[in-house]
Amino acid sequence: MGNTKSEVEEKIRQLEEKFRLSGQDLGSYLDGLLYSRYLTYWDYIELDTLLSLQKTRTHFPDEKIFISYHQITELYFKLILHELEQVFEKEDPDADFLVEKLNRVSRYFRILTESFDVMIRGMDRDQFLRFRMSLLPASGFQSAQYRMIEFFCTPVENLIHNSVRDRLRSDNTPESLYELIYWKRGATDQVTGEKTLTLKQFEEKYSHDFLELANKLRHRTLYDKYLSLPAHQREDQVLRDAMRHLDVTINVNWSLIHIGAAQRYLMKKKGVIAATGGTNWEEFLPPSFQRILFFPDLWNEQEKKHWGKQWVDQMFNNKPESEIEKN
Ligand code: HEM
Repeated sequence: MGNTKSEVEEKIRQLEEKFRLSGQDLGSYLDGLLYSRYLTYWDYIELDTLLSLQKTRTHFPDEKIFISYHQITELYFKLILHELEQVFEKEDPDADFLVEKLNRVSRYFRILTESFDVMIRGMDRDQFLRFRMSLLPASGFQSAQYRMIEFFCTPVENLIHNSVRDRLRSDNTPESLYELIYWKRGATDQVTGEKTLTLKQFEEKYSHDFLELANKLRHRTLYDKYLSLPAHQREDQVLRDAMRHLDVTINVNWSLIHIGAAQRYLMKKKGVIAATGGTNWEEFLPPSFQRILFFPDLWNEQEKKHWGKQWVDQMFNNKPESEIEKN
């Protein structure tokens, strides 16, 4: 239904006011409107550019799946960061605001967890083992957005490897904390323990940005915002559930489903295939090894001690939930 003449006149009046306030001439903008093309779907979402980005390195058809799914994941990571940045920017957010943001982030990670099947069952193993060799030393380990999500969620202290976390000194600088971060123990050589090229290149490209981000986020991470709430809001069950849910969704569920892919492709009856360049992934990836959890106050000592164990038992040993040690 079209607008009546007086409605159109009213809109022109509002436009004149808008442009006058910024010292602009409405007439020129109306000319622009007259000459501009209608927007199309493909231009709006830049479809041609988007579909030109899946540039495979080998002729194996399944590599297309591998590269596309990584790009899809990075787009979701971008949406997750978009939510977390809003939490960072909001001064004194209340429980409702945090619950909404937490649920959005968990939803995105749940989608990623549920769709990870594409990686586990959706590619031919022989093809994977071949095309993966052409991609060395690149690894999802080098996903900067994943690391940024961690920085936005919790202070660096909680990302320190659990073997040194309890012995942290109070005078640690952000730089020294950064060196102790858990993932610096990943992508190291299985035999010599030295950093692999995967890790070295990642540090070279991103360490400066990561440190800057960690400093910017000091006392302003998602967890800090939660801790600054008044006590009665912190005790809010809906908020507590949303916090716990996010912690498990990222640090246990996504993490485990991801290991499922590594196990499917990189394990053989006798040992591990060196398709990642001989990294220590088997020890590094399991959540029970890293024991990274973003919101320690939300878990009791038992739960922290057995972090990830309950889910490992359930997923890998197929034990019914009733037999699994309750957290
Ligand atoms: C067939 C599929 C996959 C396999 C076999 C696989 C394998 C691995 C392995 C072995 C590692 C340990 C580091 C290394 O040794 O390189 C790793 C780390 C990682 N991968 Fe994957 N990956 C797969 C898919 C993905 C996808 C789709 C993403 C999404 C971006 C991803 C993101 C990551 C991240 C963020 C880490 C670091 C985890 C941490 O620090 O806890 N991976 N992956």
